[in-house]
Amino acid sequence: MSFELAFDEAGTGTPLVLLHGFPLSRAMYAEQLAGLADRARVIVPDLRGFGDSPGPGDADPSIDAMADDVAALLDRLDVRTCLLGGLSMGGYVAMAMLRRHRERITAVVLMDTKASADGDEARANRERVVRAVTEQGSAALRPMLDSLLGQTTRQERPGTVDQVTAWLDAVRPDGVAWAQRAMAARPDSFDTLRDSGVPGFVIVGEEDELSPHEDAVAMAQAFVPPAPVYVIPGAGHLSAVDNPDGVTGALRDVLRHTKQSLEID
Ligand code: MLT
Repeated sequence: MSFELAFDEAGTGTPLVLLHGFPLSRAMYAEQLAGLADRARVIVPDLRGFGDSPGPGDADPSIDAMADDVAALLDRLDVRTCLLGGLSMGGYVAMAMLRRHRERITAVVLMDTKASADGDEARANRERVVRAVTEQGSAALRPMLDSLLGQTTRQERPGTVDQVTAWLDAVRPDGVAWAQRAMAARPDSFDTLRDSGVPGFVIVGEEDELSPHEDAVAMAQAFVPPAPVYVIPGAGHLSAVDNPDGVTGALRDVLRHTKQSLEID
């Protein structure tokens, strides 16, 4: 069963769907929503269990289920095909969309994410997060701040640090636990990128330590032909929040390229 996702949209024309990272919500794309509305119909949903969306419900945790929710939202909005972007967890969902709903995607933008599956240590760490958030609530996520935001933001942008802290404090523990287990169960996606036949674009914050530059290059090289990589200066894992103008500029470039080479309706 898919969930009816909450979403915002702005603009008209090429549908551009942006999927948020863990453990945030569509709020992280406020700047892109405003900054790209003159170029595209920008649609930003809250994934299942986050923001204003319902869930996570009783279903087994799965990134595929999140992808099916997004496909159901496209149906609801009468969007046949879109340019799909996802940051980190949103990137995992975008790769699941490539597996399950490829015909809906004209091009894909993978931001601060990775195509590899979790190893044993990463899975064990996710179970530790599940336990901590179940016992202590959202306060257990505060330490994530340092790895989400880049060093430049932590040193020079106190307003952004406060904003992301407030977002972390507002998460729903059941959504966090479900998503951690969904991410732990996700498969390796390199073959998905290789076989998709969908043009790819990769964006990475130059200070991203969670999905660093080598992950970005590995994904880019899996696409046929290889995807361009945009490195966002002064940005960490949450590149779209650390350096919103940098990511908006890269997405404008992607829109320009896809408009030139594809028939996007
Ligand atoms: C995210 O930002 O969505 C997370 O880093 C994804 C993950 O935990 O693998």
